[in-house]
Amino acid sequence: STQPVTIAVSGAGGNIGYALLFRLAAGDLLGPDTPVRLRLLEIPAGEAAAAGTQLELIDGAFPLLDQVSVHTDATEAFTDANIVFLVGARPRTAGMERADLLEANAGIFGPQGRAINDHAAADVRVIVVGNPANTNALIAQRNAPDLPAERFTALTRLDHNRAVGILAAEAGVPVTEVTGITVWGNHSPTQYPDLSQASIGEVAALAAVDVDWARGAYIDRVAKRGAEIIAARGSSSAASAASAAIDHMRDWVLGTPGDAWTSVALVSDGSYGVPAGLVSSFPAQSIEGRWAIVPDIDIDEFSRARIDASVAELIAERDAVAALGLLPD
Ligand code: NAI
Repeated sequence: STQPVTIAVSGAGGNIGYALLFRLAAGDLLGPDTPVRLRLLEIPAGEAAAAGTQLELIDGAFPLLDQVSVHTDATEAFTDANIVFLVGARPRTAGMERADLLEANAGIFGPQGRAINDHAAADVRVIVVGNPANTNALIAQRNAPDLPAERFTALTRLDHNRAVGILAAEAGVPVTEVTGITVWGNHSPTQYPDLSQASIGEVAALAAVDVDWARGAYIDRVAKRGAEIIAARGSSSAASAASAAIDHMRDWVLGTPGDAWTSVALVSDGSYGVPAGLVSSFPAQSIEGRWAIVPDIDIDEFSRARIDASVAELIAERDAVAALGLLPD
C-alpha cells in the first residue's frame, strides 16, 4: 500500500520510545512500500525529550517518514491512528504499594483507552508495553467498549524472544532452529516459558537439553532477564523491547510465517483454563490480520501448575483494580 499508516507512540520521550521510533521511521514495521505518520505522545515532563527526538527523526531524512508530530493530548495523538504503541506508564517508586501502582496506571490507561475508543481509526490495533502491561491492557480494553476486545494486546514477545535466544545459546544453534516455545501468563517473574512443545531442528527441546535445566534455571533466567539487563547495563531493556514490540505488531498485521507460533498477551476466550477476559500470554498465530490462540496443545502437570500460578497473579491484579472501582464491565 502507498497510503500512509498513522502510528501513535506514548512515552515517546523515554528509552523504549527512542529505540522504537527510528525503526518505525525506517520502515521496519510494515516494509519499504508503506509511508508512516508518527504521533509522539508524552506528558509535559517528557515533552522536550520527545521534541528532541522529533528533530532527530527529521534529521534522519527517512524516505518513508511522511509526518512526525509531538502531542501532550491523547485525543490529538490517537485521532485516526491505525496502530498504537502504549509505552508510557507510571513506574513504581520507593514506598509505593502495589495498589498505588495499579491505581496510578489505571489513571493513565483508562483515559487512553477511552480516547482510542472515541477517536482512533476503525481498524486500530493496540499493544501495551508499559508495566504492569497485561493489566494496563485490560484497563484500556475495558474503557473501549465500542472496539472489539481483540484489538487490545500486551507485549510478551520480548519474553518469548528471550526464551528463544537463551535456548539457542544453550544448545549452540542459530535461533532459526528453535520453534514451538510458548510464554504463558503475566509479563512478570511468574511468567512460564514452556519448552514442552519446543523443538531444536527436528529434535524435541526436552530431549536436546537437560530437563532439570529447562524446568529450573532456564525459566528463572528468562523470567529475570530484565533484572539481569539492568544489572549489566545500568538501565532497563530498551532496544530489545522496541524490537519485540515491532515483531509483535508486524506479525499481527502481516501474519506469522507458515505454521509457526509466537507468544502474545491477548484477551482470553477461556482457552487453557485462563478465565475469559483476562489479558494473558498464549501461543498464537496471526491469520488474516487477527490473532488466534493455538488450540489443543498438551499441558502436562508441571506446565499446568506454572500457568495457574501466573494466572492467579493476573486475577489478583484485576481484582485489585476492580476493588478500586477502576474497571468498567
Ligand atoms: P522511560 O521511563 O524511559 O520512559 C517512559 C516515558 O513515558 C517517559 O518519558 C514518561 O514521561 C512517559 N509517560 C509517562 N506517563 C505517560 C503518559 N500518561 N502518557 C504519555 N507518556 C507518558 O521508560 P522505558 O524504559 O521507555 O519503559 C517504558 C515502559 O515499558 C515501562 O513501564 C517499563 O516497565 C515497560 N517495559 C515493558 C516491557 C515488556 O516486555 N512488556 C519490557 C521493557 C520495559
